[in-house]
Amino acid sequence: MNTLLTPLSFAGLTLRNRIVMPPMFSGFATPRGEVTDRIVEYHRLRAAAGTALVIVEHTYVHPWGRLSDTQMGVHDDGLIPGLARLAAAIKGEGAVACLQLAHAGASTTVAAIGRAPMGPTRMRHPFEKEADAADEATAGEITLTIRAFGDAAARAREAGFDAVEIHAAHGYLLSQFLSPLTNTRADEYGGNEQNRRRLHLDVLAEIRARLGPDFPVFIRLGAHDETPGGLELEDAVHAAIALAAGGIDLVDISGGLQGSRPPVVVARGPGWFVPYAQAIKAAVNVPVLVTGGFTDPRHADRVVREGRADLIGVGRGMLNDAGWARSAIAELRG
Ligand SMILES: Cc1cc2nc3c(=O)[nH]c(=O)nc-3n(C[C@H](O)[C@H](O)[C@H](O)COP(=O)(O)O)c2cc1C
Repeated sequence: MNTLLTPLSFAGLTLRNRIVMPPMFSGFATPRGEVTDRIVEYHRLRAAAGTALVIVEHTYVHPWGRLSDTQMGVHDDGLIPGLARLAAAIKGEGAVACLQLAHAGASTTVAAIGRAPMGPTRMRHPFEKEADAADEATAGEITLTIRAFGDAAARAREAGFDAVEIHAAHGYLLSQFLSPLTNTRADEYGGNEQNRRRLHLDVLAEIRARLGPDFPVFIRLGAHDETPGGLELEDAVHAAIALAAGGIDLVDISGGLQGSRPPVVVARGPGWFVPYAQAIKAAVNVPVLVTGGFTDPRHADRVVREGRADLIGVGRGMLNDAGWARSAIAELRG
């Protein structure tokens, strides 16, 4: 039986246990998206505590996908040296280093990107009240975005990251494309569920074409929009199956349009996305990571023991206590 402390090997990676630092925006980047010493130290400390996998905070792949002026970028080769320092610091502490590749789509503002945000459809984001009205992405803009993800993944690998994670959750661009509520396009990227997940598969295929079959590629998948007319679990399960067939190496379960802490789901208590992770785990043969409300190591351990997920992300628990993994390991060994 696997426990929270059992190592996990997959896709050429070996994780020393099942404890993950999920991506958490620090707000410490420069206005040009550069890594700073504070970002390096923020991630290094959590790796040094014994965390097996550190997924670095959302990093924009293209200037139009930027969310804020203190966000890290991976849209330019000039950013590679800073990213390399970050990857080396995480790996130097024995953790696997993954970079989250993000595009905010319709969630952002004209002030952040210098143009109207770009969504699947001309719209206002249903839950991001600060976001400006978005234009519908043209076919050319979709092609450019797919390339930007591929370029970003290549930069991440050059910087020394062990893996990349495609951000397809929390109401950002890919989450907007997957949702029937925000994607009413009439072309091959909208309409039925195959079309709504086409951008995900195209991004994955582009990364695979650039980096080959062996470089680990994860996806953070918003599994449910928790809103009438929005994404339901069934579509997310089908998307996960298609992504696994397309070569994804890990599925990281979180929320869709309403973000990582939808009130109706949080009300279910800690581990609120475990039922979704369990359903997706039953449908794919790649590891499944789940995050959301975990603070008690014994609870995290139980979810792994019960086979409901392979890996557990601890977000705010690690934000508040950089040594969370160290204490958890001691408690479970105790
Ligand atoms: C300050 C903060 C920043 C976050 N930034 C990101 C991010 O960059 N990318 C992402 O996918 N999720 C982000 N999240 C969501 C977390 O990864 C996590 O899913 C969420 O906090 C719920 O898990 P928890 O209850 O363990 O904190 C962020 C959460 C917090 C609190």
